[in-house]
Amino acid sequence: MGNVATDYTDKVKVTGETAEFADHVILEMRSHLAKYPPERKRSALIPILMLIIQRERGWVDNAGVNFLAKFLDLEVTDIWETATFYSMFNLRPVGRHHIQICKTLSCKIMGEPEITEHICSKLGIHPGETTEDGKFTVSLVECLGSCGTAPMMQIGYDFHEDLTVEKVDKILEKCD
Ligand code: FES
Repeated sequence: MGNVATDYTDKVKVTGETAEFADHVILEMRSHLAKYPPERKRSALIPILMLIIQRERGWVDNAGVNFLAKFLDLEVTDIWETATFYSMFNLRPVGRHHIQICKTLSCKIMGEPEITEHICSKLGIHPGETTEDGKFTVSLVECLGSCGTAPMMQIGYDFHEDLTVEKVDKILEKCD
């Protein structure tokens, strides 16, 4: 591991393993931290958790949370409160393509149940599950803010809107 000194303090108590990151990743975290006043370190929680910890670890795990608690000088419960509130944080490992289908009202009345049924039967899994080959995970999530183009889903960072069964088939074919 590298030579970049961390901003760790001894004040934060953690249980279990703490993740380690390469120098360039620590520097990337610091670049997010630098956007906020020193007394507002907490403001960097979501960007670092979302854009770096989850990317590097594949999901939000205990070791990653322990690292971030020390890095931001927060309690681990501060991190978990945020991580468990937003569906964009994966609290367990997900497949290479994470399909998040919006199940909220607009999408529901515009055909979400049919879309979900089609995707799940095609992949042979239920919502919340990952295919055996680790390629796809399907999750049902709350409104993703694209209600005007319902029904919709998100795969990775991409939105797919005005879904039909035929459109879904074409989208899934392109997932390698
Ligand atoms: S209800 Fe589906 S994006 Fe808002």
